[in-house]
Amino acid sequence: MKGVILSGGHGTRLRPLTHTGPKQLIPIANKPVIDYAIEDLRDAGITEIGIILGTNMPEKIKEALGDGSRFGVKITYIMQGEPKGLAHAAKTAKDFVGDDSFVMYLGDNILKSGIEEFVSGFDESDFTSRLLLQEVEDPRQFGVAELNDEGKIIHLVEKPEHPKSNLALVGIYLFKSEIFNAIDKIKPSWRDELEITDAIQKLIDDGFDVDSFVVEGWWKDTGKPEDVLDANQLILETIKTDIKGIVEDDVKIKGRVVIGENSIIRSGSVIKGPAIIGKNCEIKGYVGPYTSIGDNTKLIESEIDSSIIIGNSLICSNRRITESLLGLNSKITSCTKSYPKGRSFVIGENSIVKL
Ligand code: DAU
Repeated sequence: MKGVILSGGHGTRLRPLTHTGPKQLIPIANKPVIDYAIEDLRDAGITEIGIILGTNMPEKIKEALGDGSRFGVKITYIMQGEPKGLAHAAKTAKDFVGDDSFVMYLGDNILKSGIEEFVSGFDESDFTSRLLLQEVEDPRQFGVAELNDEGKIIHLVEKPEHPKSNLALVGIYLFKSEIFNAIDKIKPSWRDELEITDAIQKLIDDGFDVDSFVVEGWWKDTGKPEDVLDANQLILETIKTDIKGIVEDDVKIKGRVVIGENSIIRSGSVIKGPAIIGKNCEIKGYVGPYTSIGDNTKLIESEIDSSIIIGNSLICSNRRITESLLGLNSKITSCTKSYPKGRSFVIGENSIVKL
């Protein structure tokens, strides 16, 4: 069995962060979201992985993942180009997949339970596809599946206005090579994309059996800023204390906290976990629960919680920063003793500032 991870797309809902790189590299607990997909595949015994690249700085994905040896897998890069749909992306992997079965994993999805159980027994089964599903409150923003009493999928719709069930398609799919014939038979949807849901529906219409697997632990599609922060919180819930940096006297550390090499926590600071601080950081102030601070960041006389600072940043703020997502090389400086009359900003297209 092979793995195919999709890392194309424009990432419009995550601008401005995606002006400087693909959304699959946005860190969750200081690790790019795509790393979790690679680890899930590897832990399920899948070590031949194709990464589908889009047009938004694909070289950054290659730079970050290399040949995969760091993860114990072998990575092959496959160019999709413009995002013409999930089925189009799958089709670009046809030569890489050959006659094998494969897991297609959307590179911005993150799943608590891993995929071992999902994958187990598929090759030996008569099913042509198996879909990972989860019950959600509002299925309208996802692909939605209808099942029969045996758990076989009978109908699929992409983002329906009136969903027939609350079972959303998690962005992780299992296929045998018959899917490629089905993709060849479908037409672009109303949003001009070749939809994988239409290709799977085609399989069903042509008489192939499609299995389902309902996953219970949490799952997040990190397509929007609030989802990225939620995923960060969920992953931080699982960290264990690991302090490599220097903690000066008179620092309070509560809960589970990770502090990277060469970082220094200055006297008088309070770090309340779960929280992670990367390498070469200097922290003086308060770091509250569910905060991830990336490498080379300086926090001076400031308070932050429930946030992600991607890295190389300087924060000196006289108001607490909360539920925020700060891109690389961000600067927030508002702690001068004599306050200027106005506030000064240099912010990119699609930035969000809540004062
Ligand atoms: O997250 C689960 C949902 O993912 C499913 O419930 C839906 O059925 C499925 O269509 C998909 O919906 P999204 O609207 O979230 O898909 P999105 O366009 O965000 O693309 C998902 C990932 O695939 C993302 O990492 C970008 C990548 N991608 C997307 C397209 C359209 C590609 O690599 N190439 C593409 O052509």
